[in-house]
Amino acid sequence: MGAAAAGTWRLGDLTVNRLGFGAMRLTSTADGRPSDGARAIGVLRRAVELGVDHIDTASFYVSDLRSANELINSALGGPYPDNLVITTKVGPGKDANGEWTPAARPDQLRGQVEENLRQLGRDHLDVVNLRVHAADSVAERFGVLAELRGAGLIRHLGVSNVRAHQLAEAMAIAPVVCVQNRYGLGIRGDDELLAECGRLGIAFVPFFAIVGSRTAAIGAGGGTAAPGEEAEVVGEVARAHGASPAQIRLAWTLHRGPHVLAIPGTGDPDHLEANIAAGAIRLSPAELARLDGLGALAG
Ligand SMILES: NC(=O)c1ccc[n+]([C@@H]2O[C@H](COP(=O)([O-])OP(=O)(O)OC[C@H]3O[C@@H](n4cnc5c(N)ncnc54)[C@H](OP(=O)(O)O)[C@@H]3O)[C@@H](O)[C@H]2O)c1
Repeated sequence: MGAAAAGTWRLGDLTVNRLGFGAMRLTSTADGRPSDGARAIGVLRRAVELGVDHIDTASFYVSDLRSANELINSALGGPYPDNLVITTKVGPGKDANGEWTPAARPDQLRGQVEENLRQLGRDHLDVVNLRVHAADSVAERFGVLAELRGAGLIRHLGVSNVRAHQLAEAMAIAPVVCVQNRYGLGIRGDDELLAECGRLGIAFVPFFAIVGSRTAAIGAGGGTAAPGEEAEVVGEVARAHGASPAQIRLAWTLHRGPHVLAIPGTGDPDHLEANIAAGAIRLSPAELARLDGLGALAG
């Protein structure tokens, strides 16, 4: 069944498989060297073959030699599959030296949208998230994106790294189809926001669902270096399913609600297959209770 095994959700009028793909890991190796372009293109094409129809990207996912958007365009463009939904994000940027630039001013957002259009080779963007850094007002920046949506450059809007009041502020300006925040086993600060998105019918799209709170701690074979009880419980559940801890972490997020989408990031073809297979894992009520109970440890 591939990526369809976890079912579908809607982003506005676009229906996607809940198991998608995050493009951030395509551009460099774990030690920071530029990735092998042919391997990255192979991962993207295989993802689509396996049923992935939702890819998360950004123009600032770049290394010295690679751009995630350009890899996506080379691998899947000309023409793109009709059902493929590409979600990108604006707000942060990188300069020509690959250094992060401060969050875009409202008047810079159009340029960022156009940069995504150029790199992806599209005449409109399916979903654009406003990625914010602070808890301040999103109204002016989201208003600019709403205007670009009205002009036909963007089909649907989302928000990323937001608090509940910022989601409410954005929703008062234009429809919001997704919230993309850091969330997973060990990072449970958005439990309430996830539930609120479910009540509102908005997709909740966690990033770092595999790496959890330990962004550099993935070990060989899909293990994690999470210490203590969390690693122990995840490991036991994984063994019971003949799965890896990474797969259980992904499967757990998908069990948080039908509106939760997965966008695991990888440049590794074997990890891609494993991540997509995780969409078919069904956790029992007892396993869910054990994993959910770890939230209390996360603090
Ligand atoms: N909105 C935002 O601010 C924001 C921030 C960060 C990321 N994102 C998006 O969210 C996506 C997911 O985040 P992420 O890629 O940083 O983190 P992730 O999906 O939690 O984990 C990716 C890391 O885990 C490894 N990995 C992936 N599958 C694995 C498996 N089956 N077994 C063992 N290791 C595995 C990857 O290395 P390998 O390449 O070696 O597999 C990579 O180091 C990104 O790709 C990006 O699209 C959004």
